[in-house]
Amino acid sequence: MFLKLFLASVLAASVFGQDDPNWYKTATYYQVYPRSLKDTNGDGIGDLKGITQSIPFMKSLGVDCIWLSPIYKSPMKDFGYDIADFYSIDPIFGTWEDFEELLATIKAAGLRLLMDLIPNHTSNEHEWFIKSVQGQQPYADYYVWKPSKGIDANGSQIPPNNWLSAFAGSAWEWREERQMFYLHQFTVEQPDLDYRSPLVLAEMQNVFRFWLQKGVDGFRIDAPAHIWEHEDFLDEPPSNDPNCPAPDQFCALNHTYVKDQEQVYDILYAFRTVVDEFEASTGEIKVLMSEASGELDLTMRYYGNETHNIIHFPFNFYLIWEISNATDARGVEAAIRHWLDAMPVGRTANYVLGNHDNGRLASRVGADFAMTNQMIAFLLPGAMISYMGEEINMENTFITWAQTQDPQGCNAGPDLYQRFSRDPQRTPFQWDDSNFAGFTNGSNTWLPVNENYLQVNVAAQQAALYSPLKIYQRLAEARKSAAVKNGSFDLRVVNDDVIAFTRVLTGEINFLVVANTAYEARTVNVDATFFPLLPIKATVFTASVDSPIQQGDSVFTSVIDLAPRGGVVLTF
Ligand code: BGC
Repeated sequence: MFLKLFLASVLAASVFGQDDPNWYKTATYYQVYPRSLKDTNGDGIGDLKGITQSIPFMKSLGVDCIWLSPIYKSPMKDFGYDIADFYSIDPIFGTWEDFEELLATIKAAGLRLLMDLIPNHTSNEHEWFIKSVQGQQPYADYYVWKPSKGIDANGSQIPPNNWLSAFAGSAWEWREERQMFYLHQFTVEQPDLDYRSPLVLAEMQNVFRFWLQKGVDGFRIDAPAHIWEHEDFLDEPPSNDPNCPAPDQFCALNHTYVKDQEQVYDILYAFRTVVDEFEASTGEIKVLMSEASGELDLTMRYYGNETHNIIHFPFNFYLIWEISNATDARGVEAAIRHWLDAMPVGRTANYVLGNHDNGRLASRVGADFAMTNQMIAFLLPGAMISYMGEEINMENTFITWAQTQDPQGCNAGPDLYQRFSRDPQRTPFQWDDSNFAGFTNGSNTWLPVNENYLQVNVAAQQAALYSPLKIYQRLAEARKSAAVKNGSFDLRVVNDDVIAFTRVLTGEINFLVVANTAYEARTVNVDATFFPLLPIKATVFTASVDSPIQQGDSVFTSVIDLAPRGGVVLTF
């Protein structure tokens, strides 16, 4: 009887991975943008029940952990990144019951859940802000309020300084009731919290505690670089950036005072202490991942130092920023090394190929190279963060000005919206070739479905012999192997066009990834590079859809055929 109980608990522990303190270091994280995954009530907007229904699909992909973009109560001015109540679920997405069902389904599938948390600002409909506008204590100091600098020639109040919103225009908004300006680094409806008030920090720590107690596995922290502003409130210097298209765009200034202030790290550390306390009392490993700063050395500081752990890993956007532009093997090598060379010893590397704020991978690099990027990212050492739709190579969707929803696009105006709008990467998920790509049974969708859904959809790719979906599944499987989790990593430029790396662990199945950056086919011999003493016969684990060699084929590593912009993953 005792043995039976013990075995059951060991089995439960290993199913849920609670016995593995390192689970987060090599996990595959899958970002769900809730409005766009699956709509079950016909209103054209995705919901929690839809996510719950999609868990078996995510399980079949082989991902480990879901990062859920915000589902809290919100007026949706920034589609959930404007939170009106950190302790409730927005009715657009469902109810508490729906959330509990989702969490239980995730856990039963042996997956995990990270919540998106936005500590920099709230919605202007948050109770704290409403009371702050009225000057009610203790909320009066919860937000960043500043007096006017006077009245201009048109009779308007003059803002305290020249600071700009990340979504264009002044970062200050006047409120008659309070006779002061408040700061909003994002939309007007997203007032910035003021962490100079210790009460704000305590409130936010309680938010972390609440969700940990609900059973989530950690958080993705939104916009941490913006949490603190310099107390002198001086004008920021102009950036003189020739690529900045308008003087009211964020890029027009150098953000010396609104971003990356020293106090940011202290506040993040205060969040980490909550997670650590929780871990100490429960033994469960919880994780913080975060957006990055933009400056590599400042981003690295998010990891913490010898005495203080802060964020388990801040996002590595270098694959987005650099692989997209890489035209040769050295460009890809640089994109990979950039992070790994800068990362403090012993920390968790990670790779982000796309998200809800960046154009879709397949549109940035082309469909072929997109899956080659996945082969690279999935087999590199560290964590991997995927954005839903990458597994089927979803592309950006053309959105007209009239259809534009994203505040960043709307604020940019009809001439510039295409440059700034994030709508194209947020359109409904493409499940099959039925109406609205199987996203909804309703009669419209909040953003249009991409016209390519007849070809680019889950059902078609499941039925095909070779498809991006099938490659993705193989890659997620490879990540679970001992060599990819713990093996050595040897990255080499094979020639101007081809880059390759191995993941090797003695006694285990080893991996070799070979990627072609050229727009023509290439054949390479990697023996001199990797196997000078003993040439190897390897097996194709997965390969580009139009690769001349395919899964299960045996190849000599002296003759590896690569499709244009294609890649192969071999085992040996
Ligand atoms: C999120 C964006 C959001 C912004 C403001 C970000 O960095 O990823 O989607 O608009 O923070 O919350």
